[in-house]
Amino acid sequence: MNQDQEPEATRRGASDTESSRASRGWWDRNADEYQSEHGAFLGDDRFVWGPEGLDEADAALLGPAAELKGRRILEIGAGAAQCSRWLAAQGARPVALDLSHRQLQHALRIADGAATEAAGGTDLVEADAGALPFRDGSFDLACSAYGALPFVADPVRVLREVRRVLRPGGRFVFSVTHPIRWAFPDEPGPEGLSVAASYFDRTPYVEQDGTGRAVYVEHHRTLGDRVRDVVAGGFRLVDLVEPEWPEWNAQEWGGWSPLRGHLIPGTAIFVCVAE
Ligand SMILES: C[S@@+](CC[C@H](N)C(=O)[O-])C[C@H]1O[C@@H](n2cnc3c(N)ncnc32)[C@H](O)[C@@H]1O
Repeated sequence: MNQDQEPEATRRGASDTESSRASRGWWDRNADEYQSEHGAFLGDDRFVWGPEGLDEADAALLGPAAELKGRRILEIGAGAAQCSRWLAAQGARPVALDLSHRQLQHALRIADGAATEAAGGTDLVEADAGALPFRDGSFDLACSAYGALPFVADPVRVLREVRRVLRPGGRFVFSVTHPIRWAFPDEPGPEGLSVAASYFDRTPYVEQDGTGRAVYVEHHRTLGDRVRDVVAGGFRLVDLVEPEWPEWNAQEWGGWSPLRGHLIPGTAIFVCVAE
């Protein structure tokens, strides 16, 4: 197939293996563009939950910042580990895990340029969120800002893995695209405000090459599905945060925009406690 040919966007089934393979390839190929487009908004050591710009420094969804000191924290789908660097600056001991080698190379690049060791210091692990290379109960907390969960076919497998490596009572806080967005075209303008698909259609969004091989996959779960997944994963849901679009944020991020953000939620953040 001609490498320059645009992939075809479709809705079709995609297994766990096909989804992981597509994600690794896509993020390796697109990490440079992602970091150059969104790196300034994310900040080198800010912890932002999504395109609305909700900051963990204000939201304290993992608990008060003063209580993060000394905590061992696992970040899933960390990308360039911006969130982990904020956690390290609070005195926590984060481990940033991602499937994509290129994303983690950006983490190294930013750490190399960090002014202080605290701002640079975070362990990096290249692995799939569905098979975590850690001992049972080895983390106090876990977090994920749009990492892994929107892209996996079997989110319960990931949640069970996170539950396994957390100590009982530990929090896992993760953000994903708000499920309602799947009913609308992924466009920032007014065309993104009219329902175009069934919210209840769980068929994954797949981009495939000329041979039919998936090169990008996103999986849709309804809000109820996500709650059931959290419970099946061994967690209790203690909060579901739908950040409102703040006045200060004029920045578009793909289909997330001030126009749509003022009208419909774009991000869902699940605050869970390991049972
Ligand atoms: C939208 S980016 C979010 C990165 C970072 N949290 C941020 O806010 O910039 C999604 C990340 O999830 C990672 N990812 C996707 N599927 C994964 C999987 N199965 N296991 C681990 N990481 C995965 C990708 O490589 C990518 O870095």
